[in-house]
Amino acid sequence: MGLDRLQNLKIAFRNLFGENKSAIAVRSPGRVNLIGEHTDYNEGFVLPAAVDKAVLFVVAPRTDSQCRFFAADLNDSFSTDISQLRQSDKGWPNYLLGVISELRKDGLTVPGCDLVFGGDVPIGAGISSSAALECGFAHAVNELFGFGLSKLDLARLGQRAENNFVGVKCGIMDQIANMFGRDGKVLKIDCRSLEIEYFPFERNDLSIVLCETDSKRSLVSSEYNIRRQQCEAGVSILRRHATEIRSLRDVNAEMLRDHRSEMESIIFQRCAYVVEENARVLGACADLQRNDIRSFGQKMYQSHSGLRDGYQVSSPDLDFLVDAAGSISGVLGARMMGAGFGGCTINVVEQEKVESFIDAIQNRTRERCGKASNVYVTRIQSGTSLVVEEQTCVEHIS
Ligand code: GLA
Repeated sequence: MGLDRLQNLKIAFRNLFGENKSAIAVRSPGRVNLIGEHTDYNEGFVLPAAVDKAVLFVVAPRTDSQCRFFAADLNDSFSTDISQLRQSDKGWPNYLLGVISELRKDGLTVPGCDLVFGGDVPIGAGISSSAALECGFAHAVNELFGFGLSKLDLARLGQRAENNFVGVKCGIMDQIANMFGRDGKVLKIDCRSLEIEYFPFERNDLSIVLCETDSKRSLVSSEYNIRRQQCEAGVSILRRHATEIRSLRDVNAEMLRDHRSEMESIIFQRCAYVVEENARVLGACADLQRNDIRSFGQKMYQSHSGLRDGYQVSSPDLDFLVDAAGSISGVLGARMMGAGFGGCTINVVEQEKVESFIDAIQNRTRERCGKASNVYVTRIQSGTSLVVEEQTCVEHIS
């Protein structure tokens, strides 16, 4: 995320809203998830990391209750009065308005603000531009108005904004990765206790490469919420036999098999995937500890098969990319990433083979649909933070 981009946002801010010496800048990253998909809202385990693709915010307080937002990459504006928050048809303002709405529910008085934002997190690619918007804005507002909220408070706030205002009943993975990411580290998050264990994943010999599909993700929110309900349906059947079961985190393969006949087969299939995926995350962390990247990569392929066949959130384009990756030299593991129904695949590739991998995958996608897949080589970086610049820069801007 270059300084140039930030300077441009600051210029846009000044042109739109005039100079404001109280303006602050915040960087809020996208995330990857190595393994552990659709496990977070089942109180299971995930293994994400914040990355070098990020949204930058320039935001200043106002003395009235107006909010004026400008999405630089979309060249689109939105404004409203805080006393009249309601969902916008434009979509993107809802991630920001949801944050204000949740702060107000907590009894905080939120003054108005002026905001310009933009960045290089691809939208709808499964890299969680949504959490970057929610958490980056929440962090900025917390700084500006001195609410004193912790990182965990802000992550939860971002999740609530998405659950309640955007309408996607997402788990907490994206927001925790966004707030707690560290340079060169993946986060094993226990989504029940919210305990985080950091594992080094910065290696000169490996790269994380994302390949984007062209498919629209229109099903994502409705199907996502359905998957969540199916998991809950499975839990309520199992709970009849063991009242201590609170979520699929408390379920193992044997328990599930014992009560298979009581469930519709689709419910069994969804639950079985989640139980297996949780076990895979734990196994993958053990692989990292043993430095066994080959075994780790195999688990990524297994995760993809489960998401495709059991959880049914993949798409033909995602399957094509994963299958193709599996036949290209230097790829240790590949799978769909994020909620699914389009978006990206994540590939762990030997560093020296990255270029040939990109050539090969782009040739294959070009042959298949006439267009080469967008590819992003990512680096694992730290989570959301204030951007503190040299004094000379600040003087130059304001
Ligand atoms: C989306 C949600 C997350 C998580 C993933 C699937 O990214 O925001 O909470 O459930 O899908 O693993």
